[in-house]
Amino acid sequence: MLVLGIESSCDETGVALYDGSAGLLAHVLYSQVATHATYGGVVPELASRDHIQKLLPLIQTLLQEAKKTLAAVDGIAYTAGPGLAGALLVGAAFAQSLAYARKIPCLGIHHMEGHLLSPLLEQDHPELPFLALLVSGGHTLLVKVQAIGDYQVLGESLDDAAGEAFDKTAKLMGLSYPGGPRLASLASRGDATRYALPRPLIHRPDLMFSFSGLKTAVAQLLLKEDLQNEQVKADIAASFQAAVVDVLVSKTLRAVKMTGLKRVVVSGGVSANLQLREQLQAGLASQGGRAFYPRLEFCTDNGAMIAFAGCLRLQAGQYRQHDFSVKARWSLDELSRV
Ligand code: KG4
Ligand code: ZN
Repeated sequence: MLVLGIESSCDETGVALYDGSAGLLAHVLYSQVATHATYGGVVPELASRDHIQKLLPLIQTLLQEAKKTLAAVDGIAYTAGPGLAGALLVGAAFAQSLAYARKIPCLGIHHMEGHLLSPLLEQDHPELPFLALLVSGGHTLLVKVQAIGDYQVLGESLDDAAGEAFDKTAKLMGLSYPGGPRLASLASRGDATRYALPRPLIHRPDLMFSFSGLKTAVAQLLLKEDLQNEQVKADIAASFQAAVVDVLVSKTLRAVKMTGLKRVVVSGGVSANLQLREQLQAGLASQGGRAFYPRLEFCTDNGAMIAFAGCLRLQAGQYRQHDFSVKARWSLDELSRV
């Protein structure tokens, strides 16, 4: 079964072709970063318009790269949420019309299910069941994955997501959009022990997160420190990153203890963070556990994870034909109740 995947939930247009037996055939991504950089963040209306312009040419390039024609596609999967409503509607309308015209099945995929399953695209992937730490711009989730489609959210952020905290803190520090990777790169030249920043909720015995207070603590620090000094900025960035990573690692290790699951999938944009990878690997190794990541280009948004999740669900017959809807907000827990 050959599945076309379409991702358009935010500021990346991603398309991919996944074959049920041959695996991933090709994927193409267009990032809107340059469009939104002038505004310091994603402008939803501009995002929708850009998706409209890019989707068709990207799919043409994709088919050429995979040496396939549209007639070979057996099904279409698109991101149905969560995300920006207008951006989601572009992908949904495109996918549903194409599938209707070609008389092939079409289904909406939960964006976080895409992230959660993306490490399974790799050769060296974990067996089920496993734990998932999903850390993106919109979500921070710890999920128990019993089977494909059986997801139990064990913990999540009460306020800002981890990526959002990186982005907002970067903005406060005058770094340009997208702030997360820029802050991480600045942090690599800094001393993480120079400023003692809070580790919110780290001692609470549950798996909930909170990152907005940390951002406020950095804002207060910035008022006192000399920001003309590059080393000071690097030290603040490193201290902030260390606080976020400490909390993420500590809660993940707690989830491992609570569930007994030692395989941990880490995905979403922040899973590209090297400090997080190093610390988590060390922590898990001490408990006989192991982390699994998607390849770096699939940590952030992409079409491959949607094509893959779509193929698994289509093969299992888990979809409803002509179920046209998008959800800007959508809990991963709801998938298990379908
Ligand atoms: O998964 P993703 O591409 O989009 C969402 O679904 O949100 O994640 C994007 C988020 C942004 O907040 C970005 O700043 C963050 O991931 N990010 C990073 C790094 N690379 C991307 N945060 C920290 N360190 C990084 N290296
Ligand atoms: Zn994402």
